[in-house]
Amino acid sequence: MSNIGNYEERLKNFDWSLSEKELDYKAGNVINIGWYCTDRICQMGKGSKMALLWEGQGGVEKKFTYNDIRLASNTIGTFLRNLGVKNEDRVCLFMDKVPELYLGVLGILKIGAIAQPLFSAFGEESLLVRMENAESTAIITQRKHIAKVRKIVDKMPFLKHIIVVDYDGKHPLREREVAFSLEEATPVENFEFFPTKAESPSLLHYTSGTTGQPKGVKHVHYSLISQYLTAKWILDIQENDIYWCTADPGWVTGTSYGIIGPFSLGVTQCVLDSGFGAEAWYKFVEKNKVTVWYSAPTAIRSLMKAGEEIIKKFNLSSLRHLASVGEPLNAEAVVWSEKVFGKQFHDNYWQTETGSIMISNYPGMKIKPGSMGRPFPGITGTILNPDTFEPINAEGKIGLIAFKPGWPAMMRTYWNNEETYKNKFKNGWYLPGDRATIDRDGYFWFIGRDDDIINTGGHLVSPFEVESALLEHEAVAESAVVSKPDEVNMEVVKAFVTLKPGFTADKDMELTIMNFIRKKLSSLAMPQEIEFVDSLPKTRSGKIMRRILHAKEWGEEIGDISSLEND
Ligand code: PRX
Repeated sequence: MSNIGNYEERLKNFDWSLSEKELDYKAGNVINIGWYCTDRICQMGKGSKMALLWEGQGGVEKKFTYNDIRLASNTIGTFLRNLGVKNEDRVCLFMDKVPELYLGVLGILKIGAIAQPLFSAFGEESLLVRMENAESTAIITQRKHIAKVRKIVDKMPFLKHIIVVDYDGKHPLREREVAFSLEEATPVENFEFFPTKAESPSLLHYTSGTTGQPKGVKHVHYSLISQYLTAKWILDIQENDIYWCTADPGWVTGTSYGIIGPFSLGVTQCVLDSGFGAEAWYKFVEKNKVTVWYSAPTAIRSLMKAGEEIIKKFNLSSLRHLASVGEPLNAEAVVWSEKVFGKQFHDNYWQTETGSIMISNYPGMKIKPGSMGRPFPGITGTILNPDTFEPINAEGKIGLIAFKPGWPAMMRTYWNNEETYKNKFKNGWYLPGDRATIDRDGYFWFIGRDDDIINTGGHLVSPFEVESALLEHEAVAESAVVSKPDEVNMEVVKAFVTLKPGFTADKDMELTIMNFIRKKLSSLAMPQEIEFVDSLPKTRSGKIMRRILHAKEWGEEIGDISSLEND
């Protein structure tokens, strides 16, 4: 029997107080995610239960019980407090998927500070703009990433502490740098967590903006109410499950459902800190007897590409429930997973800003391959006419996805950017910036984004950020960045560039520019191709029309070009 039981029944009289009750939370009381994910589980008598099974490069393993993660988060929290880190200070985490990342988030939350995880593949400039915006007090990092921090440290007067979790004593630490070893630190038993309330800030996740700098999505401790119940009903996490979320906590899936949801439910979860490899992934499932698997379409398509023969080498019979998020999950992938694993991947839809899953295929519900499913109970979702912002009550018509604001995990603002936040609401609806249709059974079908953001392999890339990096190169006069189709990543980044006089458009130039921007961008945002052109399509007011370049790449109708300059 699944946790959700019957979806239709759950829709009737749904109230978030259901989740509050299960968490023994009453309005106005203290609510601290760090405490809920560790101390509370221990108080429920599960201190000796495995919380985290971690595997790193070369098969190194580390195991943590719930009591271990309670002590580790106390220890990290105490270390930060002793440095002078206070509640609501932003503490950046810039690490691979090492245990200190997971336990660090919990420790930061326990002292009421704001956890700001940043994906470790970011280049120094990507790191700088996000830390400048947040004015981060401290950054927790590893030796392998410290060179990037050192390059920008002089530009960050607000940054007081650079904490290195794997310092080997070989090279001297510099000003503001300090070593912390979880293994060598004395575990802190007695710890007073900060009494955060529902609206106290918890996490700051950065997401790409369309025209400006990345936006810091501010979440609060009350988000737990959504994350706990959606992890329970959608991911169907049960007492004896072994849960594997493949996402990195540098992104929202890795925190909402790689830390908060599973730990608040007291489940055993495993983490594989290495890149994608079909064989390595299947081996990991087999070894840990993973029962619930939450992954992403690009990974699933990569598994499909690796073929079925390889699957026969492993015993994957432990798998009970599969879910996917982050980009369109094509119908073929759902059909394939049923064929090879005997289980369908359940697609779900949400975003950094929503904090928790909004639309989903539920355990036990009929899946229509290619559809994202239906809104979570307690979520009012619809599609709006893009001109009037009124709901479109017609089957199959394309409109803007919209949600009635007010669910617990909804972002509270964009950090230092209230204006952009306000612009996300129209006519009393929150607009995530995506287009979809709804069928007669209320299932949502994703059509595409309503802006120029590129979703490559589940990672959002702002064309603006890539264009800005390109423009910094001395040879580049103008640039326009769009997506182009890709079999595995669905879409990849492509740049169009015009050169300044005196520079030659050739392979060498492409390579030089690529190397130049590689230092500035994360590997995910790197263009797969630079095409040199003589001019870019522009409106009469001089705005570059990415839409035209995009349509050409995708072989689509170009549409209305009446505002084109050189038509
Ligand atoms: O465009 C939608 C796409 O990813 C965006 C959110 O990205 P991010 O904030 O990075 O969060 C990703 C993980 C929660 C959405 O606005 N997206 C997300 N899920 C789906 C999707 N597109 C199609 N199908 C999905 N299931």
